[in-house]
Amino acid sequence: MAEPASARLHGMLRALDAVGATPAGGVHRPACTAADGAARDLLQTWMRDAGMQVAIDPIGNMAGLLELAGPGAPVVMAGSHLDSQPQGGRFDGALGVAAACAAALDLQDQVRAGLLRPCCNVAVVNWTNEEGARFQPSLLGSGVHAGTLGLQEALACADGDGVCIGAALRDIGYAGTGVLPHASAYVELHVECGRVLDDAGERLGVFTRYWGAAKQRVAFIGEAAHTGPTPMPLRRDALLGAARLVCAVRAMADAAPGLLHSSVGRIEVRPNSPNVVPAEAVTFVELRSPEPGVLTWAEAELARQVAVAAEGAGLRADAGPVDRRPAGAFDAGLAAMAEAEAAAMGYALRRLDTVAGHDAVSMAGLCPSVMLVVPSVGGLCHNPAEFTHPADVALGAELLTRLLGRLCRDGIAA
Ligand code: HGY
Ligand code: MN
Ligand code: MN
Repeated sequence: MAEPASARLHGMLRALDAVGATPAGGVHRPACTAADGAARDLLQTWMRDAGMQVAIDPIGNMAGLLELAGPGAPVVMAGSHLDSQPQGGRFDGALGVAAACAAALDLQDQVRAGLLRPCCNVAVVNWTNEEGARFQPSLLGSGVHAGTLGLQEALACADGDGVCIGAALRDIGYAGTGVLPHASAYVELHVECGRVLDDAGERLGVFTRYWGAAKQRVAFIGEAAHTGPTPMPLRRDALLGAARLVCAVRAMADAAPGLLHSSVGRIEVRPNSPNVVPAEAVTFVELRSPEPGVLTWAEAELARQVAVAAEGAGLRADAGPVDRRPAGAFDAGLAAMAEAEAAAMGYALRRLDTVAGHDAVSMAGLCPSVMLVVPSVGGLCHNPAEFTHPADVALGAELLTRLLGRLCRDGIAA
């Protein structure tokens, strides 16, 4: 008797929780590190044990194909990412990969038991560097697959220590030469990373829209000097300029409540010595909005505020884009199918926006794509305490399996 899907999924999630586990209860699995490699090894074992055809492409994306309907049949793809934020949570990404793997195995059981007559195949995918933490931009692997980012450009992306993705992938054995299957539809299960479902006491949602994002690297260049004797008026303090920009970036979001989210989540200071006036301060700025006009305004306002901050501290500024993706919508037909499957389970699906980026955003430019959502307790995400109740994990996985089964049975256009 095949292992019940929920037990299978539970086992996979517990195994992934242990890879890069942190004392605070999360995981530390930055892209292309040994921990990411270990998680990939686990996934590859599950894929091969299930008889999947495994492909690893040159940017390290992994896909396992189950030819339920035979060679050449259309492919329904499901998955997410195994990389995490530094000291991150254990649900963001991992849930979508494990649930996709468990769902594929469940559909295989249904076919073998004569309960499912498929006209499509199913593929499970793990995307490289979704988080954009170690390497920028985020959604990197799915972006290369979707053609929004060049392969050589992606391979050359370097982390803060100057290690490029290409070398890091080779180090963990995931610099592939394969080609991922072409997806006719893409479904991703993800924790909400927001608090709408949790606040409403609801258990299932569907992302129908995604916010746009503009991410920039803004460097302030001043002059190293002794923090003691150097007269205050003569200082060219790069960190002072950066600090003023951090406050200005927050004020932009406060001026557009509900329409703009902004942040500076990382600052690199050089030489970063307590008694040297900072010579350089590099800020990583994020602007996110559902409205194209607001995002465009925010980018112009950022440029203005950079100039004000630089001039006010006697600095030079060097700003450049890291990533920019427009707001958009996931596939309405797949969302309607998901709602029908949820209704058959006795649940309504709350329609939501995602402010966070996801690999499904990359895939939405390639094929009909949709995201299924389960609650994040307290809306917490990118935090070791991020949590989704096991019953909600199982419910989301059941909905994913039903939707994939419907697509495999009836085809994409159904
Ligand atoms: O940046 C993002 O929104 C994603 O969580 N990496
Ligand atoms: Mn994610
Ligand atoms: Mn994330």
